[in-house]
Amino acid sequence: MNPENNFRVLVTEPIPGPFREKLQEVADLTVGNRGDFITEDALRDVIADFDAVLSVLTNPLTSQVLHHASRLKIVANMAVGYNNIAIDTAKKLGITVTNTPDVLTEATAELTIGLLFATARKFAETERFLRDGKFDLWDPFGHLGIQLRGRTLGIIGMGKIGFSVAQKATALGMNICYHNRTRVSQEKESAVSARFYNHLEDLLAEADVVSVHCPLTEHTHHLLTAKHFAMMKPHSLLINTARGAVIKERDLAEALHKKIIAGAGLDVFEHEPKIDPLLLTAPNTVLLPHIGSATTEARTEMARLSYEAIIHIAKGNPPEELGNRVC
Ligand code: GLV
Repeated sequence: MNPENNFRVLVTEPIPGPFREKLQEVADLTVGNRGDFITEDALRDVIADFDAVLSVLTNPLTSQVLHHASRLKIVANMAVGYNNIAIDTAKKLGITVTNTPDVLTEATAELTIGLLFATARKFAETERFLRDGKFDLWDPFGHLGIQLRGRTLGIIGMGKIGFSVAQKATALGMNICYHNRTRVSQEKESAVSARFYNHLEDLLAEADVVSVHCPLTEHTHHLLTAKHFAMMKPHSLLINTARGAVIKERDLAEALHKKIIAGAGLDVFEHEPKIDPLLLTAPNTVLLPHIGSATTEARTEMARLSYEAIIHIAKGNPPEELGNRVC
C-alpha cells in the first residue's frame, strides 16, 4: 500500500516480473493471494474500492461485477483472451480493457506443435505403457501413429497464433487449410500456401489434424460438437490451445471413446480446472493444465504489458494511446 497515491490498483494475484515497483511509484497497490478472486462474489465485494484491476483469466469480471465498479477506469487482463470480462458492459460504462497480444504467440504456437507430435505419435499413451512396466519387447505392430509430413492441418481461427502454427507446420511439410470469420490477406495465405474454407464442414472433412485457435465468443461457444466429429476422418486428431468451451467436451470424450476420431491434444477445458472424467480415460488423449503461454519469456512480457497499461492510465494518459486496448 502507498497511501500517498490515490489511484488504487488491485492486482488479483501475484504475477511474474519486476514491474510492480514502477506501478507502486504512481499507485496504491493491493495484491491478492492466488485464487482470492475467482468468484463473482469475491470481486463484487471489493471492486468499488479500485481505479484499476490487473486480472488473470480466472477472474470473472462479469456484467454484475462491473456494475459495482463505480470508480474503475481500466482492467488490464494478463491474457490474450478476454472471455472472462463482460466487454459490452465495460464499453457501456467507459471502462478501458487491455489484453496481452503478440507476446504469447510463439509460446502458444510452440505448445500446439508439441501437442501435434504428442498426439500423432501417442506420447501420453505410450509413456504410460512404459511406466506401467508393459514394455517387454519391441513390437513391429505396436503404437502406430501417423506421419505429419504430407498431411493436412486444418486451422480454425487464422489469427496471429493460428498463422504462427501454420508457418511451423509448413516447415514440417504439412499442407494448410483454414476457416476464419473473414479471409486473411493473399500475402498471408501464400506465405503458408493455405486454402480458405468458408464452411467449417469442408475443413473438417479435409483435415488430418484440426487445430483450434479462435477466441471464445457467443458465436464460437460449442463450435465443435458430436455432429462435427462425425464429419472428421477416423484417423484425424483434434488440438485445442484456445478456449475449452469452443468444443463440447462430453461430445469429444464420447467421439474419442467410440474411435470416431483418433486422438486429441488439449490444453484448455470447458469447465477449468474440472475435466470431464470421460476425457480422462479416453484413448490417445494428451491433457495439459492450460500452459499455452507458460514460458518465462511470455509470462514476463504479459505482466509488463499489463502493468504498463495501468501505469499509462494512472498517469492520466488517454486510453486510446494503448496499443493493446480491447475497448
Ligand atoms: C491464455 O489462455 C491467454 O488467453 O492468454
